Amino acid sequence: MTTNLTRRQWLAGTTTVAASSLLLSGVKASAQTFMAPNVNPTAENPIRAHLNENSYGQSLKARKAIADAADDAHKYAFEDIFKLIGLMAKLQDIPKEYVGIGAGSTEFLEKAAVFNALDGGDLLLPTPTYGDIGRFSRSLGSNLIEVPVGEDMAINLDAMRRAMTKNVKLIYLCNPNNPIPTIIEKNALKEFCNEFSPQATILIDEAYFEYVDNPNYESMIDLVKENKNIIVTRTASKIHAFAGTRIGVCYANPDIIKRMFSLFANTLNLSAMRGAYASYQDFEYQNFLKQKNKECQKIIYKMLDDMGLEYKESNANFLFFNAGRPSKEVAETMKKHHILTGREFKPFTNWVRLSLSKPEEMQLFADIYKREFG
Ligand SMILES: Cc1ncc(COP(=O)(O)O)c(C=O)c1O
Repeated sequence: MTTNLTRRQWLAGTTTVAASSLLLSGVKASAQTFMAPNVNPTAENPIRAHLNENSYGQSLKARKAIADAADDAHKYAFEDIFKLIGLMAKLQDIPKEYVGIGAGSTEFLEKAAVFNALDGGDLLLPTPTYGDIGRFSRSLGSNLIEVPVGEDMAINLDAMRRAMTKNVKLIYLCNPNNPIPTIIEKNALKEFCNEFSPQATILIDEAYFEYVDNPNYESMIDLVKENKNIIVTRTASKIHAFAGTRIGVCYANPDIIKRMFSLFANTLNLSAMRGAYASYQDFEYQNFLKQKNKECQKIIYKMLDDMGLEYKESNANFLFFNAGRPSKEVAETMKKHHILTGREFKPFTNWVRLSLSKPEEMQLFADIYKREFG
């Protein structure tokens, strides 16, 4: 079990960057075993390769900020909201009136769906894609126009263009997409946004932005700066490891931000905001995580190449590959080894979404997968 690792074993399993930031912080290694690879998973402590989380956990600076926030936890957190908004604005070089903070980016997907329903609009979106906004919209009674991804499995903007109707008032584009970690080519996306934002709000969900290393990719924040009818959402749930702590960011023109906050229900948590304030400035840790993610990708690409299995190059912290057998069967088999893999994504029922955790864990996955299915 990871919790029984000695300090020496732990240090051997991490990079110099992580180890040095650990030592600098003066935190005992025993408190940091979360960073150690889980190479002996159990039913109680499985390898979590199913939810696109960050298995390294939060940066030490974020943890310290969250612990220290206990002293102020009795206070309403209004000052912290503005402080975090200020930081997010500075990091993106955008005026702070263009920034909103939420309890996860889901808060903004939900609000966008609510406004679209109130306006009586249809929702145009690709399929498969991240499901929340479609689910919310359906519950609110909105009509959905779902456009299948192309033969290359990327979001098909031309098909979306053809599917557009005058009733569409909200368009959702997840970039990189999930469960298929493809990106939309930057110029094609800009053109699409310029064409349709006069008619509909376009929400670009950039949850996996930090992991992208692809010259054909660009954030659409620059279009937000031009006051276009565009919302860009980001989340601290992925590279910042805040999935259970809940911080999301929304970039949009001040009219949209004001509308979003007309539904403000004080969901914001002081500790989470203090943690995020520290985490977003811990560039060393973010670089360490990006490096580890690449190492994980390499390990799984090799396994897939060795086995002759088809996959999409990843632009995120997960892979999507064709197992040639039902993903449910893969999930059941791997679960026996205490490794959790993604659920089934229709219509790609033979494709597995594998969230990348730590290289050592991915090597274990590869070894077991080859043994079971090779
Ligand atoms: C594309 C995408 N958007 C949004 C979310 C939800 O993020 P949050 O935790 O910020 O609500 C996820 C979570 O997996 C996601 O994959």
